[in-house]
Amino acid sequence: MKVIRAKNFDEMSQITGDIFSAQVKEDKHSVLGLATGGTVVKVYGVLAQEYANGILDFSHIQTVNLDEYAGLDPTHPQSYRYYMEDNFFKKVNLKSENTHLPFGLAHDLEEECRRYERLIKSLGGIDLQLLGLGKNGHIGFNEPGPTFVKDTHCVELEEGTRIANARFFDCLEDVPRKAITMGIGSIMGAKKIVLCVSGSEKAEILKAVLSGPITPFVPGSILQIHSDLTVVADEEALEMLN
Ligand code: GLP
Repeated sequence: MKVIRAKNFDEMSQITGDIFSAQVKEDKHSVLGLATGGTVVKVYGVLAQEYANGILDFSHIQTVNLDEYAGLDPTHPQSYRYYMEDNFFKKVNLKSENTHLPFGLAHDLEEECRRYERLIKSLGGIDLQLLGLGKNGHIGFNEPGPTFVKDTHCVELEEGTRIANARFFDCLEDVPRKAITMGIGSIMGAKKIVLCVSGSEKAEILKAVLSGPITPFVPGSILQIHSDLTVVADEEALEMLN
């Protein structure tokens, strides 16, 4: 595991953007695993800027996102599809058919999970996966529990997760109770992973993730055994680690 200490949020975003930029330059057919949330939003800004500067070409890149809320239309401003379109997809030359997220309005959510898992496999797996970290240690929407779930699956969101994400909605009641997420096996199958963490409110959980016991009650702790993990975190997030 490599830990990169960034001075602040902007530097964390720049360093992470540079890692993704290097991947796109190195292999123009890369499969990028993408994440949503406040932590990673500027990473997309960095990539969009490099595209605008003529440095990057996404025309052969495939993207697969970690997760999506169940029950939200892709045009809903809080759906993860909308976030991705708004912050990234519409700003670069990705082909829309090459951008993939679970479909939160699927009638049969279990079948949608199986379809998504097959899709990841059919793309040959993920070359570089971007991750944020939930305050409870979740990655994607893999919530703490007694077991690690391997494949893409439906989850009941923890109340704490709904409360944390309520800042993006009008009120807590509007935050969906269910989501579809890549499983721990799908994430760990990525050839390279970058975990992005910012802010002192994540310091305690980041310490547990990186140096505590590997346990499904801290889902991100499984990352300790990934063979190519880079953690890009700001000083506040790293304040409990030496
Ligand atoms: C959400 C997403 C995660 C993300 C996490 C952290 O729940 N499903 O993929 O990593 O929140 O979000 P933030 O970066 O806004 O703290």
